[in-house]
Amino acid sequence: MLEPVQKAPAKPFRWRPRPRAIALGLAAVMAGALSAVVIAAPAQAALRDAAVTANRFIGYAANASLLCNNSATCTSGSNATYRNLAATEFNQVTPENVMKWETIEGSDDNYNFAPADGIVAFAAANGQQVHGHTLVWHSQTPGYVQGLSATAMRAEMQEHINALVGRYANNPAVVSWDVVNEAIADGNGQLRSSFWLNTMGESYIADAFRFADAADPNAQLCINDYSIEGMNAKSNRLFTLVQSLLQQNVPIDCVGFQSHLVINQIPSDFQANMQRFANLGLNVRITELDIRIPLPADTQELQVQANNYTTVVNACRAVSACQGITTWGIDDGSSWLPNSCCGGGNEAAALLWNASFQQKPAYSAVNTALGGGTGQVPGTPGAPTPGTVTATSVPLTWTASSGTVTNYQIERATGATSTTFTQIGTSTTPSFTDNTVAASTTYRYRVRATNSAGNSPYSAITNVTTPQGGGQVPGTPGAPTPGTVTATSVPLSWTASSGTVTNYQIERATGATSTTFTQIGTSTTTSFTDNTVAASTTYRYRVRATNSAGNSPYSAITNVTTPPGDTGGGTCTFRFDQWDVGYVAYVTVNGPRSGWSIPFTLGANNTIVNSWNATISGTGTSRTATNVSYNGNLAAGQSTQWGFQASRPAGGALPTFTGCTAQ
Ligand code: XIL
Repeated sequence: MLEPVQKAPAKPFRWRPRPRAIALGLAAVMAGALSAVVIAAPAQAALRDAAVTANRFIGYAANASLLCNNSATCTSGSNATYRNLAATEFNQVTPENVMKWETIEGSDDNYNFAPADGIVAFAAANGQQVHGHTLVWHSQTPGYVQGLSATAMRAEMQEHINALVGRYANNPAVVSWDVVNEAIADGNGQLRSSFWLNTMGESYIADAFRFADAADPNAQLCINDYSIEGMNAKSNRLFTLVQSLLQQNVPIDCVGFQSHLVINQIPSDFQANMQRFANLGLNVRITELDIRIPLPADTQELQVQANNYTTVVNACRAVSACQGITTWGIDDGSSWLPNSCCGGGNEAAALLWNASFQQKPAYSAVNTALGGGTGQVPGTPGAPTPGTVTATSVPLTWTASSGTVTNYQIERATGATSTTFTQIGTSTTPSFTDNTVAASTTYRYRVRATNSAGNSPYSAITNVTTPQGGGQVPGTPGAPTPGTVTATSVPLSWTASSGTVTNYQIERATGATSTTFTQIGTSTTTSFTDNTVAASTTYRYRVRATNSAGNSPYSAITNVTTPPGDTGGGTCTFRFDQWDVGYVAYVTVNGPRSGWSIPFTLGANNTIVNSWNATISGTGTSRTATNVSYNGNLAAGQSTQWGFQASRPAGGALPTFTGCTAQ
């Protein structure tokens, strides 16, 4: 179960990997493996196993008391269940509090490394990499630092960084640091006004990185912040800050996105935003992930939360420079929520295990999104059922297996009673067409489903006899011609094939030039209506005819572009959660609609800091929210909610929504 600490950055920049560290890490891992008593692997693979497959780390913020009783040796902690999950599920750790200035050096030159040493020792013993958190921050830093002159503050910063980073510089488990934390102010595109900035000026940031680099030239050095997950004024300011640090040759390697998020409010441009930082040559990481729910959390919200976790993991996996994900704690019971953060004490239940250490839906969502199995083999699939069998092809479909399915294996034996099955293909969907058959032959088919836990039992066997060959395949049908195309449907008709036709297969590719065609239906007549289209999209259609002798050639291809859906103001309702200098706007759009576009007027000097479930365009006070890919088409009775958070001058005007009524 132990794997080496994952060190190589997906996209190395100036971070020098530590050859010695890797060697030592492996040695520790090997020693652990040799001395371990052999026990049966648990039914469910751990998150860290899935993470290794995904080439990402999965980590947690460690509570030094629960894990180690704050001791340097960390031989036991105050919660054995917590400690066991920490050891087995994760391959990365960030100390939640005990590497902060107030713990490490609560009074000048009095160092308290014991709790931090304990977490590092535990991590090393369990094959985990440590991310040090945090060197320079406006919070949890003692008063004696805050009152110093610029020169003295700079010297104090250097001394502190040198002592802390230097202590672990030769420790192979400690690979990275949050050097500067939360340097950007909320909403207004400025640097945060802190004692650091106000005393030392902006250069405090470059100084901190240079001091850290001097103390451990091999460590990966990060800047870390919150509410920078989407593209907004704050993340834009961080972006220009990072660009300027790189221009000054400041040794910065990575950007940490804290990601203290709320269900249903995952910024839709999270991935694109991480990518723009990655494009600067930096690594990125999700450093403090939690997704909170208004209390009490119900079953449906826990499922939404699971889906939101999937979205975040997928975003990290889609960015090759994203090194991994740290969740801000293990269980809801010891999370910093609800009391130490946001949501007025009413939002929590944000992690992967509940307060009784039971896995929540979010746990398996993260495991699956990282590529892990559910631990259960899939259920038995249904027997394969043949479609229109010809002398050259046998199309098969079957009832899907229960559980998680990576793919289906399709096996065939030749002869009515043969039991010599050979795998002839795999399919991620419960269908497959065998194009390797001969005429007038009996074949036997069976399928089974597979996932990372293993294979399902085989389905029942189905015998199929192909018809005599030698017949004529149908002639080429005419190109499909569109009728009246709407945002939701494309009616097609075509000139019939010559010869005998059993049916026509209608195939579609998405995009004006795509050649990836998928069969979307069959028709025994020369017409078909595609009701699975989206607005403002170009599709390519082709058809072919089939009979017992085989398939005709494909028709010519016809491109069809669906018109935009409803783009008017239309019916919607809105409400605000507001406070003196900010608000959150929630807008509900009601179906039936196919595509929507809601104009609104922003209050003067309001700044949108975050938005979800819509693309917001426009500048100044004149803005428009447009549906995103998954919430444009709404049937009657369906609705979708989008929203945004904005800051405003104290007591400033709220936005007005054209065509919407207040809730
Ligand atoms: C939090 C801890 O989780 C709490 O226990 C503590 O009381 C306050 O700090 N951003 C950070 C973390 O960078 O250090 C914070 O951790 C959460 C927000």
